[in-house]
Amino acid sequence: MAAAAAAALLAAVVALTAAEAALVEHTFVVRQMHMQHLCKDTLVTLVNGQFPGPAIEATEGDTVVVHVVNESPYGITIHWHGVKQRLNCWADGAGMVTQCPIQPNATFSYGFNLTGQEGTLWWHSHVSSLRATLHGVIIIRPKSGNYPFRKPDMDVPIIIGEWWHKDLTEVDKAYLNSNDNDPAAATINGKLGDLSNCSGKAEDSYVLEVEPGKTYLLRLVNAALYSEYYFKVAGHSFTVVASDANYLRPFSTDVVAVAPGETMDVLMVADAPPCRKYHMVALAIEAPEPDPQLPLYISRGLVRYKNINASVDCAGAERGAVIPDMPDNHDTTTTFHFHGNLTGAAPEHPLLPQVRGPVDERLYIALGQGSVCRGNMTSCKRGGSSESMLVAYMNNVSFHLPDKLALLEARYRGDASLSSTVEELPSRPPRPFNYTDPALIPVAPGGKEEAIEPTRKATTARRFRYNATVEVVFQSTAMMQSDSNPMHLHGHDFFVLAQGHGNYDAASDARSYNLVDPPVKNTVHVPRLGWAAIRFVADNPGSWFLHCHFEYHIAPGMATVLVVDNGPTPETTLPPPPTDLPKCSKLQEQRV
Ligand code: C2O
Repeated sequence: MAAAAAAALLAAVVALTAAEAALVEHTFVVRQMHMQHLCKDTLVTLVNGQFPGPAIEATEGDTVVVHVVNESPYGITIHWHGVKQRLNCWADGAGMVTQCPIQPNATFSYGFNLTGQEGTLWWHSHVSSLRATLHGVIIIRPKSGNYPFRKPDMDVPIIIGEWWHKDLTEVDKAYLNSNDNDPAAATINGKLGDLSNCSGKAEDSYVLEVEPGKTYLLRLVNAALYSEYYFKVAGHSFTVVASDANYLRPFSTDVVAVAPGETMDVLMVADAPPCRKYHMVALAIEAPEPDPQLPLYISRGLVRYKNINASVDCAGAERGAVIPDMPDNHDTTTTFHFHGNLTGAAPEHPLLPQVRGPVDERLYIALGQGSVCRGNMTSCKRGGSSESMLVAYMNNVSFHLPDKLALLEARYRGDASLSSTVEELPSRPPRPFNYTDPALIPVAPGGKEEAIEPTRKATTARRFRYNATVEVVFQSTAMMQSDSNPMHLHGHDFFVLAQGHGNYDAASDARSYNLVDPPVKNTVHVPRLGWAAIRFVADNPGSWFLHCHFEYHIAPGMATVLVVDNGPTPETTLPPPPTDLPKCSKLQEQRV
């Protein structure tokens, strides 16, 4: 039955596809496997036995069909992070938002097209923390073969991730009990690197072999659950040319900052003395104390030259690899400036939209942590007391996923039992405070945060009429932590108009907006103790998840759903769901 439905989907998708666009088809078998790292045997869930998972390579305009065969014991969805999914919200793969998970021993086929998008995106599972091992890159090359920059000789995906010893399905639950819940190590393309070792045996490193004079397009993806990363290659510099599958005005740098959910495309010319070796390093960034401190996460790979001209004599060359000078792991300024340097390649590039005004809807969303009472208590001690439980919020509501029916399905079927329990996300923080006051960071009895930490859990959404122009200002707060917040919106790209330190001030900060050539993104880095403003057009009907891409923020509730109404015509209306869309069953106990 699943095969028949898949064939029907394929036929429908192919019929819709223009003659010259290709069909890119994959089968993803999701299965558990044992892997050994750091002297430990760990049972992990992988696609086709690969970590990271298989790359999807396509050309702009192609249609992609992925048959997911779930042989794992968990409910699974796959989200195509950054794919616009126009009129195709059913294929977005956000667990309990657009679909119920694919149950064990079941199959579901996702079909979508890559129209108007070029660059690097990625896919990952979107149920609990399983995405730590269920992810891979999506490479979309221009149909013409022409890039708006020097044509690279080779594509090199660089996926920054983490290795976990912990059972990933337990990780999300553990946030609610604030147990020890840290990854074991950082990874580059699945390798922990030679700085990680146990019993004196170093872990394997990712090795990139380059040829003198050639240009490499490094396609960086931050697939980590936990941290922003700095990335450098000793002896080499980069030209940043795209992010989130949107072209940027190229700029040079020797350090790249990439937050979870983001992709960065950077050109690297192999122009260093070829007899030496060069380390590449991915280093996790974290907020300084009094934020709770993690171990230092660092993964190291190697760049090595091959096909060196015979006239070059490497006999006397030093054998050790050159080590890059990394920023401090508590340096949150370099990432602020790196993200501030991004400008869009518009108006020159035809794929990039122009900024639109006037603004129809404005949201100001404060991002932070709070607490709710455990059990059924209506009042409880706060300030780190075990009577209360730490959660994360948007405008003081901690998002709660439904567990019986996906939100999009409930809305489509007019299911009142679920829809009536969905609350409207407040457009502003319900009680303003000095959001970036550092005195709010420490969690302790009698601490300054205690009075304002009570929050509540609810399933929230915000509805927009078709084609509304929406502006959102995200405000990072100092509430019980002071992390940055990489905020990701499904189904839409947006303009990043500006960012700043401190509390957003509408009167003065709106003047700093870049309305000429802002970068177009699907994930915005909202700086630590600062804000970022985005704008988008709500022109893709459906229910779209909006959340922080840090797992320790999304799992405890820093999320909401943006609902976009249908437009007036069939061409602006979300079609019915595929007939084989997975049903929720009792097994559905996973949270996103
Ligand atoms: Cu990559 Cu909802 O996320």
